[in-house]
Amino acid sequence: MLDKTKIFSDALLNATAYPVADVPQGMLKLDAMEFPQDFPEELRAGFAKRLAAVALNRYPPAKHKNIEKLLRKNFSIDENFGLLLGNGSDEIIQMLVYAAAWENAAILSVAPTFVMYRNCANFAGVDYFSVDLNADFSLNVEAFKAAIQDKKPNLIFLAVPNNPTGVVFSAEAVAEVIEAAKDALFIIDEAYQAFSGGNLQEFAARYPNVLILRTLSKVGFAGARFGYLFGRRELIDEIEKIRPPYNINVMTAAAIEYALENYAEIQNASAKIPLLRKELAEEISKINGIEVFPSNTNFLVLRVTNSDECFTKLKEAGILVKNLNAQHPLLANCLRITVSFNDDNERLLSALKNIFTE
Ligand SMILES: Cc1ncc(COP(=O)(O)O)c(C=O)c1O
Repeated sequence: MLDKTKIFSDALLNATAYPVADVPQGMLKLDAMEFPQDFPEELRAGFAKRLAAVALNRYPPAKHKNIEKLLRKNFSIDENFGLLLGNGSDEIIQMLVYAAAWENAAILSVAPTFVMYRNCANFAGVDYFSVDLNADFSLNVEAFKAAIQDKKPNLIFLAVPNNPTGVVFSAEAVAEVIEAAKDALFIIDEAYQAFSGGNLQEFAARYPNVLILRTLSKVGFAGARFGYLFGRRELIDEIEKIRPPYNINVMTAAAIEYALENYAEIQNASAKIPLLRKELAEEISKINGIEVFPSNTNFLVLRVTNSDECFTKLKEAGILVKNLNAQHPLLANCLRITVSFNDDNERLLSALKNIFTE
C-alpha cells in the first residue's frame, strides 16, 4: 500500500485544489474579476497577424526586451529598477514564497486577502500569519505592526486595493507598516491598480525593501497569463534566479507585446469601469436587503441576508458570482461581483431585483 504521508506534507494532503468554476455556456460569468471585453475589435486583425508569425519551434528568448521596454514606458517604471515577468502574477507569488522559504521564514499578510499567499506558503512549508482587517476593511495598523514585531516575517504581502474586500488601504497606513518592517521583503500587490485611480509605485523608490507586483489579467488579458514585478534591482536579481526559464511562452509574449504597443486603447477600455462601478453600486444600494461596500476595483462586495441562497438564485438565473461567506467572519453573507459593461450589469441588477422583491 502506498503511504502518501511519506511523500506529501499534511498541508498538501489536507488541501483542495484552487477552485475554478466550471461555467456552462450562456452563463454570465461575474465571479473572477475578468475584463468583460476581449481584445478590442479594431485590434484583433493585427493581433492575429502577430500570432501567425510566432516561431513555435523555438524556445522563448532569455529576456523579453521589447516587452520590458514597453512596460517601462507605459507604466513609468524607473530605468534603474529591475523587472521580472511571470506567467500571471500567481507564478510570481510562488517565486517570492520559494525565494523566502528558508529556515525561520515567516510570511505575513492580512485577512481576508488573496488566497494564493496562504496557499503558496502552506505548500512550501512556510509559516503564514495574517492580521484581521477592521470591520470597514481598513488596515489595522497597530495590530499589523505588532505582528511584525512578534512573528518577524521575512516576506509580507499587501494587496492594494485588496481582494476580496475591494478597498485601498491609505498610503499613510501602508507607509507606517512598511517602516515597521525593515527586515522583510514587502510586496505591494497592485492587481487592481487600473481601477483605483492611484498607485503606490513611489514606495518602491522610497523604501529599499518594497517591490510592486502587477498583472494584466484584470484589464483584458487573464487568458494570456502575464504579471510583472519591479523595484530595486538587487532584490529582483535574487528572485530572477528562481524564475523558471521560458516562463513567458511565445504566444503570450506576442499577445502582450501587441497589447502594450496599443496600450492607450486597452487603457481607454478599462477606464470605463470606475463609472460603471459607481452606477451599478448606486442601483444595487437601492434594493432593500443589500448593503454595498465601497470599492476601488472592478468588483463590488455586497452583503445580503443570506448569501448562500442569493448565490444559488443568481446561478439559477444564469449568473455566476463568488460567494465569500465561508472565507472569513468579516465576509459573512457577502458576495463578490465583477463589474461588467452595461448589458451584463443590467442583467445582474434585474436578477437581484427579482430575488429581493419575491
Ligand atoms: C490581489 C491579487 N493578486 C494576484 C492575482 C493573480 O492574478 P494573475 O495570476 O491572473 O496575474 C489576483 C487574482 O485575482 C489577485 O486578486
